[in-house]
Amino acid sequence: MITDKIQIAAYLFASILFIYSLGGLSSQESAKRGVMYGIVGMIIAMLATVLGPKMQQGAYVYIIASVSVASFIGLALARKVEMTSMPQLVAILHSFVGLAAVLVGFGSYLEETGKTPDMTEEGHVKHVIHLVEVYLGVFIGAITFTGSIIAWAKLQEKIKIGNKVFWFRTKPLLYPGRHAVNIILVLICIVMGVLFTLTEDANLAMIYLLSMTAIASFIGVMLVMAIGGADMPVVVSMLNSYSGWAASAAGFMLGNDLLIVTGALVGSSGAILSIIMCEAMNRSFFSVIFGGFGNAPSGGPAKEIEGEVTAVNHEEVATLLKDAKSVVIVPGYGMAVAKAQYPIYEMVQTLRKEGKNVRFAIHPVAGRLPGHMNVLLAEANVPYDIVLEMDEINDDMPNTDVVMVIGANDVVNPGAQDDPSSPIYGMPVIEAWKAEHVIVMKRSMSAGYAGVENPLFYKSNTDMLYGDAKVSVEKILGFLKD
Ligand code: TAP
Repeated sequence: MITDKIQIAAYLFASILFIYSLGGLSSQESAKRGVMYGIVGMIIAMLATVLGPKMQQGAYVYIIASVSVASFIGLALARKVEMTSMPQLVAILHSFVGLAAVLVGFGSYLEETGKTPDMTEEGHVKHVIHLVEVYLGVFIGAITFTGSIIAWAKLQEKIKIGNKVFWFRTKPLLYPGRHAVNIILVLICIVMGVLFTLTEDANLAMIYLLSMTAIASFIGVMLVMAIGGADMPVVVSMLNSYSGWAASAAGFMLGNDLLIVTGALVGSSGAILSIIMCEAMNRSFFSVIFGGFGNAPSGGPAKEIEGEVTAVNHEEVATLLKDAKSVVIVPGYGMAVAKAQYPIYEMVQTLRKEGKNVRFAIHPVAGRLPGHMNVLLAEANVPYDIVLEMDEINDDMPNTDVVMVIGANDVVNPGAQDDPSSPIYGMPVIEAWKAEHVIVMKRSMSAGYAGVENPLFYKSNTDMLYGDAKVSVEKILGFLKD
């Protein structure tokens, strides 16, 4: 058992470590150190809570049992999960935080109603503040819970139960007047919230709380169902932020300062990440919060795609690369699926040894999670100085001899710039088509995550190289070394 003061000091220390952790995660070089700070901070936080003065004697058994089971499941899942399924894991973890906030809210409310009421004025004020905390915590928690489950399903796409396979609708579910419906539902929740804090009838208050939970859960479903196309990344980071605020609300209910601070750190860093991603995707931050943004194409018939698809073989690509002076590689989700980063880096090293200027162009939402491509390239030891952001390299495209688009699709779609009917219209993209020659490496002509056709494949300076990205790169490498 530790005293109150030691617990406060430990919480403070853990909070500082969490701030250092976030700071570390802001760059690739310091990311590992950032993760270590986070782990140490979390261990200190857990120990300080479990050994703290508020802990009841018999509670240890339950805590040790639940933490052991949860740690085992978490470890097994994290070890098993593929890099391509990371976003789904993150989304489902957010849903747990939301659910925890809902459960803490109900638990905290039931505990409070079981106590003898404090009839003093101060006691009444404290009671009302507590009810507001409960109501807000449950509201944010319920939206986060159901919204994250829908986000998980949308990212998973294919859900297998037994022998049956279900395909989840990834396209946005848009119905007329949905914004008005959402606003009305939020207003109903606010009115019920006021009644909840004012009523002295515990049964009625419980009905308000339960009804609001149902409505908030429905809002969570509808907000995320309305999002589709290439806008999912922003939603995942927004749900990350919501989960932080839900944890913070749980901290208020439990009177736990560390949970308040940690929740606020997650909530605000998630919100900042969302703003950064909104800017990168040219979307309005407020439209994200209210759901269903950027999905309604600005109208007009779909632009007809002109040109013909031409294919090349591995040897021809190798010859093209041998003749090139500058090469840009645009990796995408397919590189992650194929685990092609290792042979790609070997190919890059081979080309650089021959004096060619080879660089990577990274789109902010390439792959399926923020920084996905950077993590994979770092795993293959690609030096950071040849990995450039979209904005850093787009101006160089007209001076590039060969662009190799490896398992990418939406992030190089010119329709985002010139087809107002496209669901991804307005999203900044890597302007691969401005290079002298473009090689697109993928297995077929199928669409990317946003489900839209890509006119790049039909351009006269583009050739398709069909096949698994890793196999294709290895074959090209073979010809380059000949
Ligand atoms: P996508 O547009 O999804 O395209 C990936 C392409 O990879 C597919 O067209 C697929 O074509 C190809 N592919 C799959 N497996 C392959 C393999 N083994 N070998 C070679 N090619 C393979 O990916 P992108 O260009 O990276 O864009 C990302 C998309 O995901 C955006 O729409 C983005 O908004 C969305 N998204 C991103 C995130 C984050 S945070 N990054 C999160 C959620 C959603 P084939 O089937 O023909 O091979």
